[in-house]
Amino acid sequence: MLSKALFHALAASRPLERLASRYGMAPGGFARRFVAGETVAEAIEVGRALQARGFLLTLDQLGERVSTLDEADAASRAYVRTAAEVVASGIERNLSVKLSQLGLHLDPAVCTDNLRRILMAAAPQGFFVRVDMEESSTVDTTLAIVKTLREQGFDELGVVLQSALYRSEQDLARMLELRVRVRLVKGAYKEPKPVAYQKKRDVDAAYERMMRRLMTEGNYPALATHDPVLIQRARQFASSRGIGPDRFEFQMLYGVRRDLQTALLSEGCRVRVYLPFGREWFPYYMRRLGERPANLAFVVRSLLRER
Ligand code: FDA
Repeated sequence: MLSKALFHALAASRPLERLASRYGMAPGGFARRFVAGETVAEAIEVGRALQARGFLLTLDQLGERVSTLDEADAASRAYVRTAAEVVASGIERNLSVKLSQLGLHLDPAVCTDNLRRILMAAAPQGFFVRVDMEESSTVDTTLAIVKTLREQGFDELGVVLQSALYRSEQDLARMLELRVRVRLVKGAYKEPKPVAYQKKRDVDAAYERMMRRLMTEGNYPALATHDPVLIQRARQFASSRGIGPDRFEFQMLYGVRRDLQTALLSEGCRVRVYLPFGREWFPYYMRRLGERPANLAFVVRSLLRER
C-alpha cells in the first residue's frame, strides 16, 4: 500500500512527467506496454489486432481532471471525434470515459451536458459508454449523473463500482434497481480508512460478495480484475448457478496479464481489453506501476535499450 501511495504522489510530479514523456511513447518505449498510442489511429490499429484474436474492446481517451470548462468542452469534442473514427474503422463501438475530464469538479451540470453530447453522438451509432469511477469524493456525483442520463433514455450507459469502498455494496443495490450495467473493480485510488478497506483480503472479500450479487441479479456484469483467484471463483460460481459464459464478461487492462487474457479467451470466456490512448498517459501509467512495482522492470529495460 505504501508503494501505491508513493506512485500516486509521483504521478503528480511535472518534472518526472516531462522526463517520462521524452522516452515513454517512443517506438518500443516503456509506456507502450500499457498505452496503445498517443493518437486514436494508433489505438484503432492495436484494437483491430486484438479484435481479430477474439477480444472485445473498450477505448479510453486518456486525460483526467481538467482545470477549465474550455478544457472539458475540448475533451468532449475529442470524444465525439473518437467515436466517429471508431465508426469509420469498423472496430467495436465501446468507450470508457472519466467524468473529471468532462468538468465534474468544476460544474456537474456542465459535465452532465458534456457526457450527454458524447452519448447523443455515440448512442445512435450503437456505442456502449462506460463511466469510469474515480476518487471516492466523486462517487455521489458520478452516480447521480449516470442516473439522470439513464432516466433521459440513454440505456447503453454503464458505470463502475469499486469493492474497496465500504459504500459500494449499497451503491450496487441502487444500480441493480436501475438495471445499470456495472463494471466491478477493486479500486485504483489510494483511499483513507474512514471510507475504504485497507487490507487486500477485505477488498477481495467485498469483491467476491459483489460479484455473486451481480452474477445473479445484474444486467450483463463486467468483472474487471487480473486476480486469478477471483476469476476462478467467478467462473465456479457461474457454472454452479448455470450462468453461461455469454451472460457476463471479464475485463482486463491492455498489457496486464496478457497470458491470463489469452487463456481465458481460449477457454470460451468473454474478455474485454481496456485500451487507453492519448498524450496524457502519465498518471494512468503511474497507477499501473503502483499496482505492481515489478513493472518498473519494463521501464528500466526500455531505457537501457534507448542508449
Ligand atoms: P490485484 O491488484 O490484487 O492484482 C491481482 C494480480 O493481477 C496481481 O497479483 C498481478 O499478477 C496482476 N496485476 C494487477 N495489476 C497489475 C499491473 N498493473 N501490472 C501487472 N500485473 C498486474 N479502477 C478504478 O478505480 N476505476 C475504474 O473505473 C477502473 N476501471 C478499470 C477497468 C478495467 C478493465 C480494469 C481491469 C481495471 C480497472 N480499474 C479501475 C483498476 C482496478 O481498480 C485495479 O486497480 C486494477 O485492476 C488492479 O487490481 P486487480 O483487480 O487486478 O487485483
